[in-house]
Amino acid sequence: MQSTEPNPKPLQNLEEWEDFLKERYPEGTPTTPSTQVFQATDPDKKEAAFRNYEVDARPTVREFYRLNHQFQSFEFGQAKRKDYLSLERPKMTVWQAMEFLNTLVDDSDPDTDLSQLQHLLQTAEHIRRDGHPRWFILTGLIHDLGKILCLYGEPQWAVVGDTFPVGCAFSKKIVFHQFFEANPDSNNPQYQSLLGNYEPGCGLNKVNLSWGHDEYLYNVVKDKLPDEGLAMIRYHSCYPIHREREYEFLLNDEDRRLMNWVRQFNPYDLYTKSHEKPDVEKLRPYYEDLINEFLPGELRW
Ligand SMILES: [Fe+2]
Ligand SMILES: [Fe+2]
Repeated sequence: MQSTEPNPKPLQNLEEWEDFLKERYPEGTPTTPSTQVFQATDPDKKEAAFRNYEVDARPTVREFYRLNHQFQSFEFGQAKRKDYLSLERPKMTVWQAMEFLNTLVDDSDPDTDLSQLQHLLQTAEHIRRDGHPRWFILTGLIHDLGKILCLYGEPQWAVVGDTFPVGCAFSKKIVFHQFFEANPDSNNPQYQSLLGNYEPGCGLNKVNLSWGHDEYLYNVVKDKLPDEGLAMIRYHSCYPIHREREYEFLLNDEDRRLMNWVRQFNPYDLYTKSHEKPDVEKLRPYYEDLINEFLPGELRW
């Protein structure tokens, strides 16, 4: 019998997805201004650009998106929320979770050779250097801790990748849109209407995004950080919304305010990787202090 289990590991490492993001959104390119979203003059231009990225993508990246778009259905996300969001995995402090994530045996990033822990520290250090508030620095430090899902056996396509609303039509501006053909939701007329399960302007809090490391960590730390930091954590992979400005009709005024913070965070996530490795032991006291201020003790994961 042929196995229906998808190949769990098409990417050599999780950074391959992030490297692809950097190719699509080179440093310094502005996000789509909201005024252009409904302009009819160049609707094909953006899609054409996406098609080019798709053609040039590494086969591993392509396969990763194929699996992601095939299996990230509304029901899949519901099942994962049920499994994970009761937070019954072993309790850990934030620092312990950082060390746990660092055990991820993932071929190292060929470009920077940075560990997961070093990516988190680099992100936080750049935010700190720019003089942002302490909660913002902490957000940078922890934003990818949800990737420990990989260590609980989740395949890459269920941990990373651009996130997008499920339960309503998939935006044409989601990269590798054609792979949604194999998603069971594509055969559900309710899920493929523009609004699907949602009311206009209902707010993202009522919208289910595809499952991944953002949503998991958000649930671990919610109520413990300012809303701006929580939005950065929850939506940082939602490129269709924060970068492409799609799904405007689902957002409320508070979401639009918070998206500006997500956009402010994004460059720290994408463009601050460097070969200069942070000195973990030297930085640790500062960050333990910061963790204790907002997220003391063991958290439920
Ligand atoms: Fe991330
Ligand atoms: Fe990140």
